[in-house]
Amino acid sequence: MSVTSGIEGITDSIFWIGENDRETDRFEGLWSLPHGVAYNSYLLRGEKNILIDTVKSSFSDDFLKKIYYLLEGRAPDYAIVNHMEPDHSGSLSALRNLFPGIKFIGNAKTAEMMKNFFGIEENVITVREGETVDLGGRRFAFALTPMVHWPESMVAYDVSDRILFSSDIFGGFGATEGGVFDDQADMGLVESEMMRYYVNIVGRFSASALKALAKVRSLDVGMICPAHGPIWRSDPERVISLYEKWSRQETEDGVVVAYGSMYGNTKAAAGAIAAALAERGVSRVAVYDMVRSDLSAAAADIWRNAGLILAGCTYNMELFPPMSTLIRHLESKNMKGRYVGLCGTFSWAEASMRELSEFVGRSGGGWTLVEPKILIKSAPKEQDFEQCGLLAANMADAVKRGRNG
Ligand code: FEO
Repeated sequence: MSVTSGIEGITDSIFWIGENDRETDRFEGLWSLPHGVAYNSYLLRGEKNILIDTVKSSFSDDFLKKIYYLLEGRAPDYAIVNHMEPDHSGSLSALRNLFPGIKFIGNAKTAEMMKNFFGIEENVITVREGETVDLGGRRFAFALTPMVHWPESMVAYDVSDRILFSSDIFGGFGATEGGVFDDQADMGLVESEMMRYYVNIVGRFSASALKALAKVRSLDVGMICPAHGPIWRSDPERVISLYEKWSRQETEDGVVVAYGSMYGNTKAAAGAIAAALAERGVSRVAVYDMVRSDLSAAAADIWRNAGLILAGCTYNMELFPPMSTLIRHLESKNMKGRYVGLCGTFSWAEASMRELSEFVGRSGGGWTLVEPKILIKSAPKEQDFEQCGLLAANMADAVKRGRNG
């Protein structure tokens, strides 16, 4: 069997045997993948041969060929299962079927999920928080990282090589483009796709992520091998710092204007607010038409910036559906310490502003309302545009105060 592509040497004895998925349209059935996504798996050769995570089931055949090739037909001894979401666990059944003697290493919650997903109950070794295990002379320290973003999530630290196998933490969307290392990647694209991944997959669990990052900080990490995105061999500090910044919900002093419009009247108000924000010196104004914009990209930009304007019309006596989808998604992210301004339009049922206001009320102070709330009947008029200017001025002040304070 000949396999020469899809394998990258990380060290003399550690190999990347992941898969680049450029065929799936939506990760988890939800999130767009314009640049694909990588499912990273690693094979460590030595006295004992050790796998770390697997790949999505649709890539099992190719994945197993790589193991067969690198081990010259021998069976791997262990598979460390850092995370059971099927983008990483999807080949466990195929692995067990081909290598029935393989031993799986996870924690108690991993074991339960292996049984429930795949009926795997035998040859499962469980580890606890902080436990160190010797696997054929290679020592691993395990740290549990619950709710980043599933309860069984954990990371494995290779003590001898100072390599952290970090699972979803430090992951990002985007297939690897050529090389698998950070110094071979387009960092602008990597960071943008990593942030979109963080906000939409991990963001809700930022408090858990901060606890996990504190554990990472206690380790002497020379290289980070995550389950998605590039391997951080040149600058692991960069990705740790970025994840810390996003987990702490640190914002920049820009404003996102997100609107949903049927016939252009809400769009006109949103455009007036955006223009006035720029006139008031807001350094970055980003406008999203939520009928057409990618939800995950809008959410990532909203996470990044301190200010948000929500402008929506009324439809069927409710908030326009694309805006309802947006606020439901934002609510699920538990965003904190941000400013929001509201603009609602209607002709005969005053629903949009009511629902937007209820969203702010439910945030428990996570969103601070910037006045005035702009309620427009049918089409914006001169006095409405004046209100748009006033809201933009107040938002610009709030964002600058937030930055300076
Ligand atoms: Fe990449 Fe949570 O799986």
